[in-house]
Amino acid sequence: MTTKPKDRTFARKLCSEHAERNDNLSWFEALYHKARGDETIIPWADMVPNPQLCDWHRRTGFDFQGKRCLKIGCGLGDDAEYLASAGGSVVAFDISPTAIEWCQRRFPDSSVTYITADLFAVPPAWHGAFDFVLESYTLQVFPPEMRQRAMRCIGDLVAPSGTLLLICRGREESESPGAMPWPLMRRELQSLLGFGLLEFSFEDYSDAENPPVRRFRVQYDRAT
Ligand SMILES: C[S@@+](CC[C@H](N)C(=O)[O-])C[C@H]1O[C@@H](n2cnc3c(N)ncnc32)[C@H](O)[C@@H]1O
Repeated sequence: MTTKPKDRTFARKLCSEHAERNDNLSWFEALYHKARGDETIIPWADMVPNPQLCDWHRRTGFDFQGKRCLKIGCGLGDDAEYLASAGGSVVAFDISPTAIEWCQRRFPDSSVTYITADLFAVPPAWHGAFDFVLESYTLQVFPPEMRQRAMRCIGDLVAPSGTLLLICRGREESESPGAMPWPLMRRELQSLLGFGLLEFSFEDYSDAENPPVRRFRVQYDRAT
């Protein structure tokens, strides 16, 4: 699939304005709010499920039937709906209340439970509660100093015998991170292993975007 390059100028401006005030989280709500229902303003809103998720699912045949699934930073809901259509019992959350209302408007008959929540302060009942956790593209919009804590929070959501699928931009240590979204280095992801997860597969590839984007797609499993 070839897609048009996204204009990230406005999102980057909001991101850096908020970062100057030592606030790396509230620009998401500001962006969704300012978009006023126009998805073209949201650079990550493709309005279709993430092909990196769909390809992985097709290839692995992962069985979502009856599984408790959690989508982190669900944006406008396409991946959450995909997991539900594959048979998962899905909770999807985002820090932005406007994004959550948008999902509820887009998918009024959805079986997905959409909730406003902050990854860094999730409801206690979510700890170790999900058979499948999907993290795609949230870590890469956090500055590096927030990522270790974010990964600890993510790992903590996975139930015994559960699976975490992580999809992000990837780069070499010698490469500059450039502008947001900031690609991750493989070494940064190693810390998830310290949080009780085992790396089942690690893919490092270029996708079909125009220009192609280097991605890491990693499946982690938690031991029983
Ligand atoms: C780059 S977007 C990716 C959205 C979606 N995963 C996708 O691929 O379209 C990151 C999303 O994470 C949300 N987010 C950022 N920080 C968060 C946090 N601390 N807790 C929950 N969601 C967060 C943002 O509002 C945004 O919707």
